[in-house]
Amino acid sequence: MEPYIIDGKKISKDIKDELKKKVADYKAKGIEITLAVIQIGDDPASTVYVRNKKKACEYIGINSQSYELPGDTSEEELLELIDKLNNDSAVNGILVQLPVPDYIKPMNVINAISPEKDVDGFSPYSVGCLNLGVKGFLSCTPAGIVELLKRSNIEIDGQHCVIVGRSNIVGKPMASLMLNNNATVTITHSHTKNLKEICKTADILIVGLGQKGFITSEYVKEGAVVIDVGIHRDENNKLSGDVDYDDVAPHCSAITPVPGGVGPMTIAMLMYNCVKSAELTQV
Ligand code: GUN
Repeated sequence: MEPYIIDGKKISKDIKDELKKKVADYKAKGIEITLAVIQIGDDPASTVYVRNKKKACEYIGINSQSYELPGDTSEEELLELIDKLNNDSAVNGILVQLPVPDYIKPMNVINAISPEKDVDGFSPYSVGCLNLGVKGFLSCTPAGIVELLKRSNIEIDGQHCVIVGRSNIVGKPMASLMLNNNATVTITHSHTKNLKEICKTADILIVGLGQKGFITSEYVKEGAVVIDVGIHRDENNKLSGDVDYDDVAPHCSAITPVPGGVGPMTIAMLMYNCVKSAELTQV
């Protein structure tokens, strides 16, 4: 079977272009949108992510404020900056790139961001809204995956969605979001018994466990939709995911590639949340 390859690059571009148009209309009415991006230290992967986020802001017409703090910044200093940004009405979204250094508690940082500016959707308030199925900022990667499915005309309602991985950033919010979209959801993780058998019952298999090429065709039902959230770089800088693409793809009805699948969607949805934040307070 030739699978339908879900083109995250194209879909994220479509979303960014829709937002660009919206932002231009707001600008014409005098409404500016601003995202504050905070990075502590110079972790190379974080630097790339932050650069891409700022580039996306520029493309869409969102102002980005960049705070590049030294690697020895104290938690107190960071919280002071967040407090200042919370109280700055010109700032619509605040993003602290994770991971933060070991001596800073990520939950203290996430909790410090005002829920109205939590464009990552990581705060307990945002997570609570998602679990309750009420309006709030959605965590960007899971929201991006739902957009990929919907814009590829893949039915979610009534489908059995198996999620591999239970992280706070992907697995758990993904489960809530699929549930809110009327899927039947199973979450699996490193302690799950009979993982292969459970994955084989998935109509939609969403994989984010952080192990390169872990999911082979033995885990996939014929005709399933497979979404790969993993991202791994080999010694030649080649990217691949948690799914063994060449082995799995011939058995799927649709699949996301790595790169060019889920990855570009996270930033598109972050931009979506920034626009939404401005709309909540200014429009
Ligand atoms: N680190 C890895 N992914 C993310 C993300 O989506 N947001 C933030 N703030 N940090 C991250």
